[in-house]
Amino acid sequence: MIRGSFSNMAALSPRLVAAVLCLLTGVLTFPLGPDSERSATCGYESCHATKANMLNVHLVPHTHDDVGWLKTVDQYFYGDRNDIQHAGVQYILDSVVDQLLKNPDRRFIYVETAFFYRWWKQQSSSMQQTVKQLVNEGRLEFVNGGWCMSDEATTHYSAVIDQMTMGLRFLNETFGACGRPRVAWHIDPFGHAREHASMFAQMGYDGLFFGRLDYQDRDRRMRSKEQELLWRASDSLTPPMADLFTGILPNGYNPPTGFCWDQSCDDPPIRDDPDLEDYNVDDVVNRFLVIANSQAMVYKTNHIIMTMGSDFQYENANPWYKNLDKLILYVNAKQASGSRVNVLYSTPSCYLQELHRANLSWALKTDDFFPYADAAHDLWTGYFTSRPALKRYERISNSNLQTCNQLEVLGGPASRKGPFGEGDSQTLKKAMAVAQHHDAVSGTEKQHVANDYARRLAHGWQHCQVVVSNSLAALSGSSAERFYCDNLNISVCPLTESSKKFSVGVYNPLARPVSWSVRLPVNGTAYVISDPKGKPVACEVVPMSRATRGLRRSRGFAVNELVFQVQAPPLGYSTYSVSLLQDGPPPAPTHRRTPTAIQNKFLRVTFDPDTGLLSSLSNLETEQSIKLTQNFYWYNASDGNNAESNQPSGAYIFRPNSSTPFIVSEFAKTETVQTSVVQEVRQWFAPWVSQVVRLYADSRALELEWTVGPLPIDDSLGKEVITRLDTSIKSSEFFYTDSNGREMLQRKKDFRPTWNLKQTEPIAGNYYPINSRAFIKDDVDQLTVVTDRSQGGGSIHNGSLEIMLHRRLLYDDVRGVGEPLNESSRIFPEGLVVRGRLLLSLDRPPAAADTHRPLAQEVVLQPLLTFTHGDPSPNTRLEFSGLQAALPPAVHLLTLTQWDPDTVLLRLEHQFQSQESKVNSQPVTVNLQKLFSTLDVLGVSELNLSANQWRDEMTRLAWTPQTDKKTSPPLKTFRGHSSTWEVTLKPMEIRTFLLRVSVR
Ligand SMILES: *[C@@H]1O[C@H](CO)[C@@H](O)[C@H](O)[C@H]1NC(C)=O
Ligand SMILES: [Zn+2]
Repeated sequence: MIRGSFSNMAALSPRLVAAVLCLLTGVLTFPLGPDSERSATCGYESCHATKANMLNVHLVPHTHDDVGWLKTVDQYFYGDRNDIQHAGVQYILDSVVDQLLKNPDRRFIYVETAFFYRWWKQQSSSMQQTVKQLVNEGRLEFVNGGWCMSDEATTHYSAVIDQMTMGLRFLNETFGACGRPRVAWHIDPFGHAREHASMFAQMGYDGLFFGRLDYQDRDRRMRSKEQELLWRASDSLTPPMADLFTGILPNGYNPPTGFCWDQSCDDPPIRDDPDLEDYNVDDVVNRFLVIANSQAMVYKTNHIIMTMGSDFQYENANPWYKNLDKLILYVNAKQASGSRVNVLYSTPSCYLQELHRANLSWALKTDDFFPYADAAHDLWTGYFTSRPALKRYERISNSNLQTCNQLEVLGGPASRKGPFGEGDSQTLKKAMAVAQHHDAVSGTEKQHVANDYARRLAHGWQHCQVVVSNSLAALSGSSAERFYCDNLNISVCPLTESSKKFSVGVYNPLARPVSWSVRLPVNGTAYVISDPKGKPVACEVVPMSRATRGLRRSRGFAVNELVFQVQAPPLGYSTYSVSLLQDGPPPAPTHRRTPTAIQNKFLRVTFDPDTGLLSSLSNLETEQSIKLTQNFYWYNASDGNNAESNQPSGAYIFRPNSSTPFIVSEFAKTETVQTSVVQEVRQWFAPWVSQVVRLYADSRALELEWTVGPLPIDDSLGKEVITRLDTSIKSSEFFYTDSNGREMLQRKKDFRPTWNLKQTEPIAGNYYPINSRAFIKDDVDQLTVVTDRSQGGGSIHNGSLEIMLHRRLLYDDVRGVGEPLNESSRIFPEGLVVRGRLLLSLDRPPAAADTHRPLAQEVVLQPLLTFTHGDPSPNTRLEFSGLQAALPPAVHLLTLTQWDPDTVLLRLEHQFQSQESKVNSQPVTVNLQKLFSTLDVLGVSELNLSANQWRDEMTRLAWTPQTDKKTSPPLKTFRGHSSTWEVTLKPMEIRTFLLRVSVR
């Protein structure tokens, strides 16, 4: 029932709409049980009173429930496989609710909606009423509230926004306003991304708390009382839009030493009957006061927070609450005899409210919290690359999900139920949301759990394929069966391998036309291809490479690849017909000699004829040229037997034994394929490293397709494989990486912007997450590398950029996962082989963003190919665009997804930073009513980034930075926008809309 929320823009102002909505929400969320007379006082109003003249200690009972790690998400939920780890989330929620009801003073926070949702579905309606009551009274409070607590280093912003939206939507729809989290709670992720802070701010959070940061940074912040700060998380968005108050928790997320009263802990309970033995109240109280007073020394206000809980705690909540009740009683009883310490049950938002009331100014931070080290030789920079195959699968699954979402909208209801049966996007949405967890895409889970994440994604994609097929049938008017080839990266596609006549549908999820190179496994040697208008398309048949044959094993049998260029309109598809002309002998043989150069109209690449390696890259349009050598190396992973430290390299930690990597080979054996459509130099370095240097005729980027694995370990050495680009660019120790795929951050060797770094790991300490791109530059040249998944990388030498591609390790790194990162699979029992692509572009620095932003988007949201046998039937619509016109180059259509039967969620994003581009870093306006070709937009209302609040209603606490000379920021972050169909986007802005639509 979205009724009042839709302004028919001319008629209703957003303010009025909001007023109507408020009323309705209020009515809906009043509890119906016997206590329903009591008005809802959740949120800040439900906090316990504190004492102004005392040190107030906020005890926050909580549990940290990983959405998969040592066990799968479902095993954790049920408490299955307790032999691996004793943990059962369903029992935690049962027990906590029970204990909260025993004493209205008690508080609990819950974080991971993936688990809460599972539990909620299984409760009786009377239990659901009880829980609503607890939520309405602020006794049970949701914090963070995303489907999971996402990883920050290896996630892409698009998937993070989606998973937050999903969790927060469930909370809003189930609990209304009282279910809306005020605080972001990222207590466990291994380092913190600036883009995450920016997103949290735009989602309306008042503050963020976390537990992990570099130990040197923490020491300094403790000394200077800067453990609480204001994070200005965007260079482009106008403050305070991306400002986020950020608090560092005192003890990770654990209770203080000696005060863990979970059934899994061994600390002494409070023994308070003087008639019994071992009365210990005085001892407990004294120990507590010592800890509280020393903690107060390193924070600014007379309020401190203590996290009373940890991983999967509160399965039996009774011991925790029984002892906390007593702790509060006895510590506060001391006030009568002059103690100045006041203890209370609290939540992160109640604590945050007190910090806000203190009305101080806070240190301002503008960089991020990467990399994270918890000791001198313990850099958590390995997981930036760990499980590279899962990382790629997660990224391509996001692309497939966005396509599925779009087609579900564009095809109308027939997409969900049509000629190919019933499909849904929900299954893949949930699988993607789970995959964002900080032990999922991060690669820090056990092998069987990694398999479970991948299986969920595959299962979700099955459901989405039905949606895609139904939608394309509706849009094209043809119900011919569509086939999907998910293994095209290793040239496997049964249909194209055997068919003499087939058509290829290319769906483009971007809001501008794209041109893309297609490679299909085939067995013929000559084909004719026609585009949707019947015009012939240039194509070439090239022999399948040895590396690809080795990789696909028995999964395919094609001997050749058919290569051609396709175009697809914005949010639309094009259909290409392919017919076999000739079976005959194999195509033009490959040449054994390395050519001196390959080139197209944009780029020229030269090779060293002696080594077979790249030697230079030139941009022919801008007439610039750099020296460029590229090769593969491996670091020998530390096994821990080392004088400085016994820390081995593992799933989390990167610790090379030596700063000098071994070279895989000085030379590459090469083969060359030169055709009018594509030119390739195939390089072979070792049985486990090969690469194709590829230049398509129409591409502004050079493709490096690497194939690495199985990494040999018969020498008992763990290996971490990198590729390194050594150039003539004078990068002066700087390089640049993206934050979650969005804004770029400057990195400097052996340097952190906010403290004096003592560098203890010259390689691992210079590694940063690369989500979608990195670059090095000087005044005239910028070399950008676009990646196809998250990877770790660094610039150790001037002019050099290295990217870690694959890791295979023999020891566990003692951070809990308890397994060495040593991946194999059924098809690769001898060790996993991974293939991926890097796209290189060379530009003049001021214009480089104009190239790498669209390039990166094309990799993140890549066209989806579908295949049908034979010729399309006569009345088939061969080309379609869901948009009336392409969006301007600066605008990215981030989200288009069905929300309710009559509404769709739309996110438009300005994809350039301010000042980044002369042409594109300008505000740009889009008309929402004239957007779609198949949908009439009847109404629109704007939401916050996570779509759980009307934008006009969103208010946030205002915080004053120490260094800001300006007067205090306005109370509201967002103002209502003028009521019009025209929306303007400023650099890096994302705007979220709910559209009421009808299918034309
Ligand atoms: C929140 O949920 C309520 C129902 O509980 C719904 O009426 C309202 O529209 C939702 N708010 C938003 C912003 O979606
Ligand atoms: Zn965790």
